[in-house]
Amino acid sequence: MSSEIEDHRLFNNSENEPFSTVLERRVSRRNVMRGGLGAAAASVFAGFGVTGCSDDNDVDTGGGSTTDGQPNMTDDDMSAAMALAFRAVAGQNSDRVSVPDGYSAQVLVPWGTPINASAPAFSSDLMFTPEIQANAVGMNHDGMHNFALTEDTASKDFILALNNEYINQGPLWAPQGGPSGLEDGEGGRPPAEARTEINAHGVTLIRVARDDDGQWAPASDTRYNRRITSATPCALAGPVAGSAYAITAYSSDGMTTRGTNNNCANGYTPWGTYLTCEENWPSIFKKSTGRGPDDDRLGVPTERTRYGWETAANRADDTDGEFSRFDATPRADSAAGDYRNEPRTFGYIVEIDPYTREARPVKRTALGRFRHEGCWPGKLVAGEPVVFYTGHDSRNEYIYKFVSDTPWDPADAHMIGGNYDRLAIGDKYMNSGTLYAARFNADGTGEWLALTPEAMVADGSQTLASALNLEPGDLAGVIVNTCDAADWMGATPMDRPEWGTVDPESGAVYMTLTNNSDRTAEDTQATFTDNASSVTANGAGYATAPVNAANPRADNSNGQVIRWVEPAVGATTFSWDIFVFGSIPQSGADDNLSSLTADNYFSSCDGLWYDDRGDGNGILWIETDSGSEYTNDQVLAVIPQNVTSGGNASDASIITAANQSELKRFAVGPNGCEVTGIFATPDKSALFINIQHPANWPAGTDATRDTEGQIRPRASTVVIQKTDGGAIAV
Ligand code: FEO
Ligand code: CA
Ligand code: CA
Repeated sequence: MSSEIEDHRLFNNSENEPFSTVLERRVSRRNVMRGGLGAAAASVFAGFGVTGCSDDNDVDTGGGSTTDGQPNMTDDDMSAAMALAFRAVAGQNSDRVSVPDGYSAQVLVPWGTPINASAPAFSSDLMFTPEIQANAVGMNHDGMHNFALTEDTASKDFILALNNEYINQGPLWAPQGGPSGLEDGEGGRPPAEARTEINAHGVTLIRVARDDDGQWAPASDTRYNRRITSATPCALAGPVAGSAYAITAYSSDGMTTRGTNNNCANGYTPWGTYLTCEENWPSIFKKSTGRGPDDDRLGVPTERTRYGWETAANRADDTDGEFSRFDATPRADSAAGDYRNEPRTFGYIVEIDPYTREARPVKRTALGRFRHEGCWPGKLVAGEPVVFYTGHDSRNEYIYKFVSDTPWDPADAHMIGGNYDRLAIGDKYMNSGTLYAARFNADGTGEWLALTPEAMVADGSQTLASALNLEPGDLAGVIVNTCDAADWMGATPMDRPEWGTVDPESGAVYMTLTNNSDRTAEDTQATFTDNASSVTANGAGYATAPVNAANPRADNSNGQVIRWVEPAVGATTFSWDIFVFGSIPQSGADDNLSSLTADNYFSSCDGLWYDDRGDGNGILWIETDSGSEYTNDQVLAVIPQNVTSGGNASDASIITAANQSELKRFAVGPNGCEVTGIFATPDKSALFINIQHPANWPAGTDATRDTEGQIRPRASTVVIQKTDGGAIAV
């Protein structure tokens, strides 16, 4: 997310206790680790570090490979520690991708790559039209996932599902010197420009394959290649579907809407579907009157939309509301006559079946409505609920989880190809369940607070439905007002939750908290109290949150990674800790709470992925979204199992001066970019990342080549492989 469209306002004036205050008061993490918890939670924590952790840091090189490409492990090897076997990449400010010695980096499916024969090849002077952009890869790649077609080909031929988060109008309209403004648009944006921009957003599904020389290329495959844009019809499912909150002139029964927007991070399901997550969508809408507290809280503007798409209605046949739907101001006698509710059909987790091109995307409203960063499945256990973790990326907003009513049936696992009604399986697990918001207690424990109409709010004075001025039992109303519901229940405001990821063996959840530049000095927070009853109004506000000892950086620009574990799948309690604090030299020594060095300085952690390598080992990959004079944005790697044991009670985080060398910079992106989106092929021979909003890159298919002169920049996927074809990073 570039600063161009990031929304730095604060909308949470709930006065719930900020996370930083919680951190300040809590006992040391070592006390927690050493038995401050109940036996069940303590044993889960033990799973963090004991398994696979030994004094032997030798890289396991022996035994050849199994048929799936994974290293063979002997019984003796099963408990051997894994180690990172690459030399840290230096920080850089240049127009190239840098990777360790012995690795290559290839540009794959940059913006504008045709996905079928209906779009021409990209060129520096290509003038995009709505039709071209609807048949070409969208702009500003973000979250992504791989969907195998067969087990045998899973590591060399699959469907790539790719979010296209937002647009840069400069590169998009470069041949005409930029977008047409309202002043050149006879009172409105030209409809063709608005349609093109709408089509540059959303999701790209494109089959990609590797040849015998290790080069990757897209395939023009009419079975799978398709675009889902901010105009594609989508179904609504879950509590809000069919409710009065979702009725529009487009959908009198409130069951459908058009488009998904600002698709940031992603998720996937055990039944083989893709989850795309709607983040900074409020600014494509405006509503000058008739606003609800939900619009206020989420930041739907009153004056102008981000791109002025609604103004194209002045110049187009807009009888179906193609453009006027972006102005949600009430105009008719009822919601069925206008688009006052259009913003209430956005802000969701959206499920896509990548294998079935006719399948309509489904907005899973049960998982809450806010600025969703992403959605990550929890530990999967037969007979237990299916769990998804989500976060709201705005300052002082919350972390959530959804727990299904339906217990997991392994017969529903369809991660590889085949014809299944995957969205029907999604209906089974994602439409009915309980949404929770997280409260982080000072002693290292936490609670999940159920957001149900009948829940009593934090001070016990009334039900949540009553507090939100809803009818009893109005779950749809609670979902529409998710953030205000979390306020009333006493959730803990966080420092902009971005990506999460789950260790599928231990169930440990990691989440990045990217930064919070409006966190103020400790003595400015007199207005904050421990009592949620001080919440006096739902909706918009503007507030700051105080610093404290464990999140001690006023104007914190570097962020941290938090993690937690739960005593059982679907539990309503958890235990938490800080894994690492970001820092760069410019921030000063006092800022460097995890003792980072030239091999691992980072700022504003964002993307995150636990790369399970089996036998209790995994690599936590951390991506960043805040370039600095020290270095452009980057990818770092650490094996959590190698850093969890040891340390002192006074350590601020799991990464310490004693073990920071285990955290190493793996790759650095080109100037101006953010590094985001990440997965590896099942055989771990190729790591896929995305370079979003580069300033002047790429210069051909070799991502490591420096750009000469100014080019028309293109966000792109990058495939990093070892030149010897071995497993990445180890
Ligand atoms: Fe789209 Fe929160 O990053
Ligand atoms: Ca992000
Ligand atoms: Ca970010």
